[in-house]
Amino acid sequence: MMPMPKFCQFFVCATPGEGRCGSKGGGEVLESFRAEVERHGYAPSAVLRNACTRRHHEGPVVFVYPDDVWYTEVTPGDVPGIVENHLAGSRSSKTGA
Ligand code: FES
Repeated sequence: MMPMPKFCQFFVCATPGEGRCGSKGGGEVLESFRAEVERHGYAPSAVLRNACTRRHHEGPVVFVYPDDVWYTEVTPGDVPGIVENHLAGSRSSKTGA
């Protein structure tokens, strides 16, 4: 039997405005997340636009639900590793490998 895919959502802040995540590359990060989750067989709707959480001094920021993990100063290059951490890790935890 195929394992159930893990429920996971990536909230990416790409809020536009001076000094905000959108002006620091948040839009590119959002697109990278959509492409990467699809590569893992997930719908791009697993990636959502987050509202400003007043953390843009360390933006672009990403929150992963339900794992409750924040990432700061995220670049498109960080995205494959982050997605791997949260989606690929679920497979091995189920088998205990
Ligand atoms: S704009 Fe991203 S935290 Fe404020």
